[in-house]
Amino acid sequence: MPKDLTFSTQVSGERNSQFELRSVPLLQLIDEADFVGTLFLSITGRKPTDDEKKLFNALLVASMDHGINPASGFVPRVVAASGNDPLKAMASVFLALGPYHGGAVAAAMQLFLQIVEEGRDDLEAQAISFIKEYRSQERRLPGFGHPVYKDVDPRTNTLFALARQSQLDLHFLDLALLVETHLENEAGRKLVLNIDGALAAVLLTLGFQPDTGNALFALARAAGSIAHIMEEVESGDWVRRLPEEAVKYQPQDQSEELE
Ligand SMILES: CC(C)(COP(=O)(O)OP(=O)(O)OC[C@H]1O[C@@H](n2cnc3c(N)ncnc32)[C@H](O)[C@@H]1OP(=O)(O)O)[C@@H](O)C(=O)NCCC(=O)NCCS
Repeated sequence: MPKDLTFSTQVSGERNSQFELRSVPLLQLIDEADFVGTLFLSITGRKPTDDEKKLFNALLVASMDHGINPASGFVPRVVAASGNDPLKAMASVFLALGPYHGGAVAAAMQLFLQIVEEGRDDLEAQAISFIKEYRSQERRLPGFGHPVYKDVDPRTNTLFALARQSQLDLHFLDLALLVETHLENEAGRKLVLNIDGALAAVLLTLGFQPDTGNALFALARAAGSIAHIMEEVESGDWVRRLPEEAVKYQPQDQSEELE
């Protein structure tokens, strides 16, 4: 049986001929001119405190742009250069993100929650146990490691330093750093708490659900792509192509199969 198209929502709608978002008149929110605070309200159902808003704002800035080198940086430019409109190029940002790049926030949030849940008696022992389990299964702990940052991810440090100026309960930040320390002990090399892991700790601190993690990173990165897409379009350099030396064709030897 197909379901009918009836929806029930607490997010937004019309009351007394006024449009509301989370029961706050939209016109009031427009007047307040606070996109970050309104986004927080829209997702969590409550307005943030000043500390929360500052941190939420900072994590979106930290996620917005990290140069053209990563996939989410160059892919939208390549798509735009093929003559696609900016919306289609922006959509390619979402496809370029994944568990190894910008899409590990939700999994890191789940991991931290699981350590807290199962480590009530001894958080540190539980963290070590998870690290050993992941490594024995040759799985990578989400939120740790970076292709370029081998000692520290400066975005994490700055974000955490800002959080430490707040009155918020920061036990998820301490947990993330604890995991970083023990992962280094177990792996015998530093695998930095990367931006995904930092976002995970901060978003849990702010009370966000794990499923929002990757979406928020992607939202910020997609916003950051607009300038790149426009620069690409305005450059007039249409159709990007890899230089010949960047591609190595290695023909498959099929002689055995042909015999
Ligand atoms: C980000 C990432 C893709 C970088 O990969 P990379 O450049 O190949 O990483 P490195 O060269 O520094 O490290 C590779 C080695 O460290 C291990 N390693 C890297 N990240 C790890 C992690 N998070 N947990 C456990 N082991 C990890 C790899 O298994 C590999 O081990 P091996 O040499 O024995 O095969 C990788 O660290 C990763 O997958 N992290 C988890 C996912 C994540 O946080 N993604 C968001 C990135 S912003």
